[in-house]
Amino acid sequence: MKFNIAVLPGDGIGPEITQQSIKVLKAVADRFDHEFNFEDAAVGAAAIDLLGDPLPEVTLELCKRSDAVLFGAIGDPKYDNDPSAKVRPEQGLLKLRKELGLFANIRPVKAYESLLYKSPLKPETIEGADMVIYRELTGGIYFGEKSISEDGKTASDLCTYSIEEIERIAHLAFKAAETRRKKLTLIDKANVLETSRLWRKTVSRISQEYPGVKTDYMYVDNAAMQMILNPKQFDVILTENMFGDIISDEASVIGGSIGLLESASIGTGNALFEPIHGSYPQAAGQGIANPLASVRSAAMMLEYLGLKKESDTVRHAVDLSIRLNVCTIDINKDNHYSTERVGDFLESVISDTEGHIVNNENLNLGQMTII
Ligand code: IPM
Ligand code: MG
Repeated sequence: MKFNIAVLPGDGIGPEITQQSIKVLKAVADRFDHEFNFEDAAVGAAAIDLLGDPLPEVTLELCKRSDAVLFGAIGDPKYDNDPSAKVRPEQGLLKLRKELGLFANIRPVKAYESLLYKSPLKPETIEGADMVIYRELTGGIYFGEKSISEDGKTASDLCTYSIEEIERIAHLAFKAAETRRKKLTLIDKANVLETSRLWRKTVSRISQEYPGVKTDYMYVDNAAMQMILNPKQFDVILTENMFGDIISDEASVIGGSIGLLESASIGTGNALFEPIHGSYPQAAGQGIANPLASVRSAAMMLEYLGLKKESDTVRHAVDLSIRLNVCTIDINKDNHYSTERVGDFLESVISDTEGHIVNNENLNLGQMTII
């Protein structure tokens, strides 16, 4: 099959990790006889430097006419340290989400058996943890009216949600729960916020349509604690934009590294796939960034495009790299591989139709000869 994929590498480590995903996708295309046309475009600080705009019109147009968007990362310290900057890289990503109507951000989190001992949390606490976060992505405080008083002494960010905005993502989350362990937890702050009360009311009404799913409600402060104390209790988490941003970074600790967590943003027609980690500027260009979150985002993209078998092949390659410790320094401290070599390993596993790598009796030897 033929697909047009927009590639937005962005800032910091974005380009080098995205490059590994492209490598992997090319191997998939070869093995399964597909045609993927990749077209690059600038976004974020890279686009500000180039064109003065974090989301140039050409980039947006490319995304709109593509079958899917593969996104790297966004953000640059020169803006982080300058709160008075008029244009910010992040605006590019936020506008892109809004313009493409990507109202649902889906972030799966799982504890990997072979990484249990690497998490700062106790292995017995996280073993078996398996959840997916449905984060609302185009509403709430991120997109409400922003203002700063003339004297610069008072600022405000408005948090607004409509019933429709809550309903559409709630249905997606309930449907996901039906295919999983049939539990949905709404995370909100309904004891304080009016928007949260609207979320609770709406979700509670919709839950009647999904009698097979057990619906729970949890305040976000408690949820932040429960995520560390007992993450196994979560199956599908549904939450608004900002709480989802915070909770998903916290949840990444369960997976062993934030460098492993992928995400899909879907909505009214377009779809974008991106790792949840940021641009990690300190690591840019050093070949130490973990490409697995990007590659797993690419696997989500394949599944979205209807290529389930291909997606499973990529996931399998990622699992193997973790099992064999063919990993970057965030996971493999003592004997780490570079970003590119992890990508090369994944590529060779995908191209290895005979199963030489998987079946090799001496896996370590096998991996050495292949890379
Ligand atoms: C994320 C990121 C973004 C967000 C930033 C880069 C604007 O943290 O995707 O989680 O806050 O949504
Ligand atoms: Mg975030």
